[in-house]
Amino acid sequence: MLTFDILTLFPAMFVGPTTESILKRAQQAGLIAVRLHNIRDWAADRHRTADDAPYGGGAGMVMKAAPLAAAIRATVGTETPPVILLAPDGERFTQAIAQELAQLERIVLVCGHYEGLDERVREALITREVSLGDYVLTGGELAALVVLDAVARLVPDVLDAASTAEESHSDGLLEYPHYTRPAIWEGRPIPPVLVSGHHGEVAKWRRRERLRRTLVRRPDLLARAYADGHLTRADLTYLAELGWAAG
Ligand SMILES: C[S@@+](CC[C@H](N)C(=O)[O-])C[C@H]1O[C@@H](n2cnc3c(N)ncnc32)[C@H](O)[C@@H]1O
Repeated sequence: MLTFDILTLFPAMFVGPTTESILKRAQQAGLIAVRLHNIRDWAADRHRTADDAPYGGGAGMVMKAAPLAAAIRATVGTETPPVILLAPDGERFTQAIAQELAQLERIVLVCGHYEGLDERVREALITREVSLGDYVLTGGELAALVVLDAVARLVPDVLDAASTAEESHSDGLLEYPHYTRPAIWEGRPIPPVLVSGHHGEVAKWRRRERLRRTLVRRPDLLARAYADGHLTRADLTYLAELGWAAG
């Protein structure tokens, strides 16, 4: 069981995505738990103030240190889970990080808002910072949902292991294309090998499609897959036929 503790100023943003599809089923099956914590509950004043104007002036508001720190400390308790801040200036979130996090028993996700949080909380209590990409979201909530979804589907038994094994980014290559009935749609036939009944040929075709697609769409990934030892001799022979040379 992997427990996600999510600290946010806007817990209602999580309701739809965590009550549908895989995230819903994984919780019902007791494979993951999602606990939402409203940072405002740790604000000391009558108005439950969680933000204030920035020192030095300028636009926007900053999340106050005290309520956020109290929320993190109360949530973490005596355990030592990673306390992960969603941050546009953090380390880029990848499938490899999702795989790493899926092995844990507990993760604390902290959602920033406004201009972000008081830097001293980052220094004192955040153990890791991840970014979804080089753009700025209004808050960390959507980013936390992406992390939650990407990690939860890799928790053992949430999905059939076979369905995540060859997915895009699982081993450095993109996924092969998929087809379902009918065999001809608007004059477009499926690749004949898929109905040949020959499992070995289907597997070979899929592997080659993964290689070809990665070469065409993300040659940077192919170079990394080679460096990480994910390519077989047969892969390299096929890639050479396509004009790709390692190194
Ligand atoms: C409006 S943003 C703050 C941006 C900040 N002032 C800056 O320029 O770096 C508010 C919050 O959204 C979240 N956020 C924004 N963009 C993100 C991204 N690319 N990845 C992860 N979280 C992001 C963070 O939690 C951030 O504290």
